[in-house]
Amino acid sequence: MSTSEIVRLGGLKNVGRFKDHLRILGVNIPCDDELASGQQSPLRQPLVKGQLFIGNRIAVQPMEGWDGTADGRPSEYTFRRWQRFGGSGGKLIWGGEAVAVSHEGRANPNQLLLNEDTSVGVERLRSVLVEEHRRVTGSDQGLIIGLQLTHSGRYSRPNSHQRGEPRILYHHPILDRRLKLPADYPVLSDGEIRAIIEDFHRAAALAWKLGFDFVDIKHCHGYLGHEFLSAYTREGEYGGSFENRTRFLREIVEGIRSAAPGLAIGVRLSAFDTVPFQPNPKLSGNGKFGPGVAELSPECIPYRWGFGLNPFDPTQEDLSEPILFLSLLEKLKISLVNLTAGSPYYSPHIQRPALFPPSDGYQPPRDPLIDVARQMKMTRTLKQNFPNLILVGSAYSYLQDFLPHVAQAAVREGWVDAVGLGRMVLTYPELLWDASAGEAIQHKRICRTFSDCTTAPRKGLPSGCYPLDDYYKGSDLAQQLKVLKKS
Ligand SMILES: Cc1cc2nc3c(=O)[nH]c(=O)nc-3n(C[C@H](O)[C@H](O)[C@H](O)COP(=O)(O)O)c2cc1C
Ligand code: SF4
Repeated sequence: MSTSEIVRLGGLKNVGRFKDHLRILGVNIPCDDELASGQQSPLRQPLVKGQLFIGNRIAVQPMEGWDGTADGRPSEYTFRRWQRFGGSGGKLIWGGEAVAVSHEGRANPNQLLLNEDTSVGVERLRSVLVEEHRRVTGSDQGLIIGLQLTHSGRYSRPNSHQRGEPRILYHHPILDRRLKLPADYPVLSDGEIRAIIEDFHRAAALAWKLGFDFVDIKHCHGYLGHEFLSAYTREGEYGGSFENRTRFLREIVEGIRSAAPGLAIGVRLSAFDTVPFQPNPKLSGNGKFGPGVAELSPECIPYRWGFGLNPFDPTQEDLSEPILFLSLLEKLKISLVNLTAGSPYYSPHIQRPALFPPSDGYQPPRDPLIDVARQMKMTRTLKQNFPNLILVGSAYSYLQDFLPHVAQAAVREGWVDAVGLGRMVLTYPELLWDASAGEAIQHKRICRTFSDCTTAPRKGLPSGCYPLDDYYKGSDLAQQLKVLKKS
């Protein structure tokens, strides 16, 4: 499918037309005709679970900017982004952005790092956010702020944008080839894994000291935590059985509970995955890449390198292990769970459905609404199975002007507890706050999924909404991106 064949949501005049379009596509996405406002709005209802009081159902997803300093402190760009997170009106700030627990585990040389040297900056990020939240909403009551802790594993790139330094748990038949890893490339030893677990303990204790309400032990998007869950072929204590593949999480949780007893813990999980996709080679050429197709050869079946998928039909999800994983979270008394899918590196169409692909992606293989519906269905299924967990849903930005109608319906009908906003926060952070206050939506600020916020970092520049955010529009960075996109 090419971008030109996909119906532009910005061109649909009203909710009725949008709902007609959903019917024609045959996708099941709940959508309210009218938006409620103030205390009538499902999006403004608080969420109370045990000790946790979250003031409304608007969540801000972690959104990294590739714009920290070389030693891992926030820059002016980072402060501005966190300030806007606070001004979104969302009461659940899920992680802010991926913050590495060690230099070696950074996904890029400008990723934030959490250690004693960077802690003043990270603490200020939190306070800037809180201040702006108070200014916009009048109160910080019910505001819950987490920090997403990460090790980038296979996608570590700590020293140069041009050079990956992968830390892998097992050899993957497709991803190893893509990363040009030789057959004898070393896998992390159990001892090295234990050292990384200690880095998580140290970072969490620091986050607690800095005043964060929770830390997210990131298990998504192909990074280290996520790779553990698919380490079926790894030998030893951290691979093979479900118990072994979740040992990393359990050992991190155990250490955090003793180092930072008052700190809540959350997990962001890619609840299903797929075989890596690539641009269809038959439909690519002349500088253009074709629609995405699965890169799969018969010898890879049964497929043993993905979590939450059917090994005999690995582009299809199988939620039986993700359900076991959520049961484990319940046993570990972790009630904050943020659900996402796939990876930006090898399956961006399922992770963040978009009309326009990033520079290292492919044209959408089908209407992106199908993939929005897929994440929503997965979240709904898990919510039905786990009514006592707090589940945050992802991948709503593609809904554009109709996002508020869908978000309201999804919360009202109990498909999800809180609606997480990713890319939309880069362009129009207050979208759901405005919509649930009965204010007119500013259509010019709606994210149109141009993917420049992904293309920029792929080209070594900070992330940001270059097309729509005045801060970047027309700036030197925007000029640089224009040149790099042509080269
Ligand atoms: C520029 C950019 C940076 C991101 N950074 C992170 C991150 O640090 N941690 C994370 O878990 N997800 C990250 N994501 C994924 C988003 O949190 C979100 O899951 C995804 O964009 C889909 O939601 P959306 O449709 O609202 O954009 C990032 C996405 C983008 C576009
Ligand atoms: S660059 Fe802006 S409009 Fe494009 S996907 Fe990112 S946030 Fe949305």
